[in-house]
Amino acid sequence: MVNTTLVSHVRGLADTALDWLDLPFRSRLRHELARPIPPLSIRRRVAPLDEYLATTDEYIAYFKLLGGLHMRSDVLDIGCGHGRFIARMLTKPHYFRGAYEGFDSDPVAIRWAQGNITSELAQVHFRHIDLHNAYYSPTGQVDPSTLRCPYPDDSFDFVLAWSIFTHLRPSVVDRYLQEVARVLRPGKCFIATCFALDGYPNSLRSDLQFSRLLPANPHSHWEHHDTWSTLFPDAPERAIGLQLSYLRAAGAKQGLVLKQFVPGSWNCDDDYLSLQDIMVWQRPPPTGADDSGGPIR
Ligand SMILES: C[S@@+](CC[C@H](N)C(=O)[O-])C[C@H]1O[C@@H](n2cnc3c(N)ncnc32)[C@H](O)[C@@H]1O
Repeated sequence: MVNTTLVSHVRGLADTALDWLDLPFRSRLRHELARPIPPLSIRRRVAPLDEYLATTDEYIAYFKLLGGLHMRSDVLDIGCGHGRFIARMLTKPHYFRGAYEGFDSDPVAIRWAQGNITSELAQVHFRHIDLHNAYYSPTGQVDPSTLRCPYPDDSFDFVLAWSIFTHLRPSVVDRYLQEVARVLRPGKCFIATCFALDGYPNSLRSDLQFSRLLPANPHSHWEHHDTWSTLFPDAPERAIGLQLSYLRAAGAKQGLVLKQFVPGSWNCDDDYLSLQDIMVWQRPPPTGADDSGGPIR
């Protein structure tokens, strides 16, 4: 008990010191974006520090090109963290004028987003839900595998879960796919990233690549379960891989059509687009609606 308190105290002090050291970088970014930037202790939970802005822009491009995000979309961001995507989308009026809802289990990140990300152009709301996650929110009281998202049916044109299924077990992924199918409007898309374990010609390479990505990880091999695997048996949600065959079936069960699977570079695939694998699902359009050609809108 004493040790736990001491460790969290030392962590708090280290975070404060790092946040001070980070001030010059923050003020440069703040100047560039004309928006508040979260302190390092919050930023580092979601993106490599040196690539914070570059990866944010990169992923927003995929939302538009693959997922059909457009200027006036109603957007749901599952596991939105401190809201880096919407913060960036609001930096220029021609980027986004729609409505946005984000939820996350991290109270610190959500509090920061609520206090710092606002827009006179768009409806932007952040919500903390006290969800349990063995790695991110071990004291969370709400079981995510029973979550009913607090949004009405058919209310979004675009839903994203970026770097979320990489931290969820299949029982939770099942539930989230069910909820996505409920809140997404017909014909619209859901984009999610994952580590799909059987989507590659040489699955053995994933172990090698991961030991390079996470050098501090003593477990450079997946511990395999039936439809999922983890690199961290002590806190599995820190990095979870899912069988692609499972993901396909889980989406289909909810009536979602898998439009695209784009391999990621994490597994040394030559045709990668991003670091993680990208999956784009569509809720089928109403019968008779034209679904041929052109960007998905
Ligand atoms: C790697 S971060 C990604 C954050 C954000 N999507 C981004 O890319 O900036 C993973 C996020 O998932 C959140 N999280 C963990 N369990 C969750 C759950 N069951 N539902 C929603 N979010 C969750 C964590 O708090 C954390 O903010």
